[in-house]
Amino acid sequence: MLSSPYRLGSHLLWLLLVCSLPALAQQKTIPVETAHNALALQVNADGYLSMTYLGAKLQNSSEYAHVARMYRRGDDYSGIINSVYTPSGSRNLVEPAITVTHADGNTSLDLKYVSHSEQKEGSNIATTSILLKDPAYPFEVTLYYKRYIAEDVVEQWTAIRHQEKGNVLLQKFASANLYIPGNDFYLKQYHGDWAQEMQPEEAKLTHGIKVLDSKLGTRAHLYQPPSFMVSIDKPASEDEGKVLVGSVAWSGNFRVDLEVDPLNNLRLIAGMNNHASEYSLKAGEIFTTPTFLYTYSDRGKGEASRRLHRWARNYRILDGKGERLTLLNNWEATFFNFNEQKLAALLKDTKKLGVDLFLLDDGWFANKYPRNADNAGLGDWQENRQKLPSGIGYLVKEAQQNDVQFGIWVEPEMVNPKSALYETHPDWVIKQPKRPEHLYRNQLVLDLSNPKVQDFVFGVLDTLFTKNPKLAYIKWDCNAVIYNAYSAHLGKQSHLYIDYVRGLYNVLKRIRAKYPTVPMMLCSGGGGRVDYAALQYFTEFWPSDNTDPLERIFIQWEYSYFFPAIATSNHVTDWGRQPLKYRTDVAMMGKLGFDIVVSELKEKDLEFAQQAVATYKQHSDVIWHGDQYRLQSPWEGDFASVLYVDDKKQNAILFSYLVSNRYRSGSTAPVRLKGLDAGKRYQLQEINLYPGVKSSLPADAVYSGDYLMTVGFNPQVDARRASVVLAVKEVL
Ligand code: GLA
Repeated sequence: MLSSPYRLGSHLLWLLLVCSLPALAQQKTIPVETAHNALALQVNADGYLSMTYLGAKLQNSSEYAHVARMYRRGDDYSGIINSVYTPSGSRNLVEPAITVTHADGNTSLDLKYVSHSEQKEGSNIATTSILLKDPAYPFEVTLYYKRYIAEDVVEQWTAIRHQEKGNVLLQKFASANLYIPGNDFYLKQYHGDWAQEMQPEEAKLTHGIKVLDSKLGTRAHLYQPPSFMVSIDKPASEDEGKVLVGSVAWSGNFRVDLEVDPLNNLRLIAGMNNHASEYSLKAGEIFTTPTFLYTYSDRGKGEASRRLHRWARNYRILDGKGERLTLLNNWEATFFNFNEQKLAALLKDTKKLGVDLFLLDDGWFANKYPRNADNAGLGDWQENRQKLPSGIGYLVKEAQQNDVQFGIWVEPEMVNPKSALYETHPDWVIKQPKRPEHLYRNQLVLDLSNPKVQDFVFGVLDTLFTKNPKLAYIKWDCNAVIYNAYSAHLGKQSHLYIDYVRGLYNVLKRIRAKYPTVPMMLCSGGGGRVDYAALQYFTEFWPSDNTDPLERIFIQWEYSYFFPAIATSNHVTDWGRQPLKYRTDVAMMGKLGFDIVVSELKEKDLEFAQQAVATYKQHSDVIWHGDQYRLQSPWEGDFASVLYVDDKKQNAILFSYLVSNRYRSGSTAPVRLKGLDAGKRYQLQEINLYPGVKSSLPADAVYSGDYLMTVGFNPQVDARRASVVLAVKEVL
């Protein structure tokens, strides 16, 4: 006798199991593999495609077919809880990846597998594309899984199209929908604000939905970046544990849903934010989502981040394998207060310091409302005649005379209400017609969904380059968020957030088509905007306006899980109370720049800075192109240690910093190095010493890689040696 609904449930389950046995044979499994990892997708007998596996690659790919049957966690009733792209309005009961209203007003969507194919680009890149169709409507979705095999990185996105009689409204349109089996899940996420970027939090995900998102429009991650990590079963450490590191490659509003479902598995849905962004899609038009990219490692966060770094350098960041320019920036040295004489002197200082380029920051433009403070002039990109009567051209030439290059700051997406641009083109500005303007840093955002505005922004850069072909560097800033989102150009307002970012990419594409190599820094009042879509146009990014070196150790540490050192612009400034050596040592862990008054440096400080630039140039190859190992976390002790090792394991550089000022704090035990060759012998030499200071470390000591990786080495960090840089070199 069936005594309870539970018994009824388990009988049904048994029946289902028995009935589905013959069907198993018909199930098609689609493995999506990289060098070490795999996803497995499975089409069931009814034609539904689900994700059944994410983890280490199996030796025998036919065995992915068995995975789903190993889980006995109950029934989800809908049968599509692990859908590869969960639709809504039909039988789905959990968070959807896609929600639509068909042309006839119907709100249901069902997606069945039709076909899949694989495309190869050389030996390292393969893209699996899978076509899904709604059996009741001429509506289809293609899922793309692009794999960078050696780097173990997957990029996922979708293309949505239909042939209905009228427009379909897209209400949710994720890039990826992963289904991750596991026992427990731990999310490492970030929050921040100006000068407080990348504050980490790690916690166990509980049942229900956790959403990471941004609704800021531009500089989307001022509060929360689109990058995160999920550890599976237990929190991963640097070298142990299963972890997925993911990032939404989109420079606007993003959304990541992390849903621990009733079967205790993790549903991860990532893409653009659908908040206030219903998109109307015409018949035949293709709606392509941005990509969600991720890597997985079962050997901890360190390995996962190194995979992402390799991928970013090899395939994504502009000139990721190239060189970078060291520079002197004048922002904190002068703010808006400069003229030609002052700049001419700074150009001489640039040469004196030994860096490659002088970067002229904010304040060089606008005449009707001169840019002498941050409340006027944005949008009027003509040289200010009082400050620069001879124009940029003169400065570029002056730079050449001094044997240095010249770069310039722009913030072309923005406008101050006090500007000629605002007066001439009020309709180019994002603002609600019936609401008071609400400013962020005294400025508003231009409407890049409007092609005329795109032309204008392209024109700002194009004019600068046309007039000054020797212009060698651009710092592209973006300091405001979007309030009062309204476009005078768009018919459908809910397209604004998406079309803004698409408009921005149109401009950047045009710039790169005409000026493919000039280095550009992606800046946003600090680190309010860095993602892997923007970085295909930029060589580097500005992690934070906070350059206090102590703070920077933590900020750079956290960014380094997602972005490699070659893309991380670090400037030595007067923030913080540490000596110049400490500030310089911290800035060296990335792309080195200075923003100090060189002429006011004491003699020894100047000598140190000059030597540091030369030392950096000798060692930058391993910092830019090597593998990064986070050895000692600043969050967990008195000091932090970070190591970079080159491909051949011949050269490495170890940075260590004191992060505590308690009595006798320092490195009381050796730090174990990583990534060396156990069989090689290495010499350790302290570099970047302050003039007149002798290292307390034994000179010319040689150790085996085995020793350095098993016992380690003590850099002798303490209050008198608050930052220590060691060059590690193979001895042949
Ligand atoms: C932002 C940037 C700074 C500087 C100023 C100029 O805050 O992050 O580096 O360029 O703008 O206004």
